[in-house]
Amino acid sequence: MLKASVEKALNSQINEEYFSSYLYLSMAAYFESLGQQGFANWMRIQAQEEYIHSMKFFDYVIHTGGKVTLKSIKDPKTTWKSILEVFEDTLEHEQHITDLINKLTSLCLTESDHATNSFLKWFIDEQVEEMANATQILHEIKLIGDNNAGILMLDRELKARTPVLMNVVAPA
Ligand SMILES: [Fe+2]
Ligand SMILES: [Fe+2]
Repeated sequence: MLKASVEKALNSQINEEYFSSYLYLSMAAYFESLGQQGFANWMRIQAQEEYIHSMKFFDYVIHTGGKVTLKSIKDPKTTWKSILEVFEDTLEHEQHITDLINKLTSLCLTESDHATNSFLKWFIDEQVEEMANATQILHEIKLIGDNNAGILMLDRELKARTPVLMNVVAPA
């Protein structure tokens, strides 16, 4: 049985991951409005992955006998000054999520909740990947600067990203 403090934090994380999905979908819409289909594709896939993260927490709460309580999702930002600003926001947002996962892990250690601690390991590794990916793209955008050919090349590269197929049904 989940302790109330852990259940509350996991429910909050469902909301945070769902908001992440919404934020990246908003970034996808922004890139579509610029005609940058590759950047939009990358953000659409990012949004799908965040939805899956949300569902992993959703399923875990149910699987451990907890209660899922969904709350409203806040409005995401809808416009940006530049491609650079979008990826600065992306990195900043992933840092925020990393901080939350770390806090959740610390809470589990305080509460001696080893099962949830074990469940969170996947997210700790995932956040390392997320931070690395966002940092790399941000680095490339900074190198490209105002070079349109460079932007076009990166757009083509990001168009090749394909969704990771993951199970979103409840664990057996
Ligand atoms: Fe996530
Ligand atoms: Fe993420």
